[in-house]
Amino acid sequence: MIEEIEKAMILYTKGNKIKHDVAHFLKVHQYARLIGRLEHLEKREQDILEVAAIVHDIACPMCREKYGHCAGNLQEKEGPALVKEVLKGFPLDHAFVERVCYLVGHHHTYQDVNGLDYQILLEADFLVNADESNLKKEAIEKMKINVFKTKTGKELLNHIYEL
Ligand SMILES: [Fe+2]
Repeated sequence: MIEEIEKAMILYTKGNKIKHDVAHFLKVHQYARLIGRLEHLEKREQDILEVAAIVHDIACPMCREKYGHCAGNLQEKEGPALVKEVLKGFPLDHAFVERVCYLVGHHHTYQDVNGLDYQILLEADFLVNADESNLKKEAIEKMKINVFKTKTGKELLNHIYEL
């Protein structure tokens, strides 16, 4: 099922050559999957995390078109409705889809992180964004102190960015 959703999301994404949207979410999904497994998430929470990681930036292309950029708050606002559209063909229960929408609607919000699925999505997205945005070591250190919580996420961040 996760694979089917991942394929659906790849087919849904347009204009990948310019912004590398597909490569981005594949990387975020892999980190989220890895951290979730190593942090021993329950199966349902792991599935929610993985689906959220696959669709988390779903609103980026439409935000670029509508607003000229895809700032975090705009993505959070526009994302959930698009997520429902993409997931409606899959046999997922209401609470599952709602939680995925909540995570997509909060994936640039670093306060009140109410669950390991949410926490790991933030960490996985940052592990990829730090590289894609060429962030300076100081900014990565700051994020590590302020946001990172899981042992696995911190280990990966430390190693990848030589902190
Ligand atoms: Fe992202």
